[in-house]
Amino acid sequence: MKLEQTQIRDLIRRAFAARKFAYTPYSHFNVGAALLTRNGKVYTGCNIENAGYTATNCAERTALFKAVSEGERQFSAIAIVGSKEGTVNELVTGPCGVCRQALYEFSGPDLTVIMARTEEDYIVTTLGQLLPYGFGPANLETEKTESQM
Ligand code: THU
Repeated sequence: MKLEQTQIRDLIRRAFAARKFAYTPYSHFNVGAALLTRNGKVYTGCNIENAGYTATNCAERTALFKAVSEGERQFSAIAIVGSKEGTVNELVTGPCGVCRQALYEFSGPDLTVIMARTEEDYIVTTLGQLLPYGFGPANLETEKTESQM
């Protein structure tokens, strides 16, 4: 979906607001995400770390799981902001591999992904660009048996 610049900035602003709640006693790397549904609602998330590091949840998946757990399954865009506490990063924060896969389940390749350093400085791409040949629900649909091939 092609977003207006005002919509992009609004999503980035929402991601920055969510980043304030990041729970990051181990990395001090704070991430916020704002996920836009196809019908215009926004679900936000932050990263939530854990003393058993692998239980950490990324901001993107926090937003996604909040949305899906409230009945949403169709998304048009996600904005992501991340940097060390109290700093603005040189690099934009892209979604990690696990989050790309989790988002792909519901959006496929068309999801717009906005990776922002500030409200004015951001990259707009798609999940298909970030996860080419992604594995999704369609891959599990079997149309032919092996003996028919
Ligand atoms: N993190 C996210 O929340 N999203 C990403 O896409 C990249 C990484 C978090 C996980 C961890 O809490 C911290 O950033 C450092 O890896």
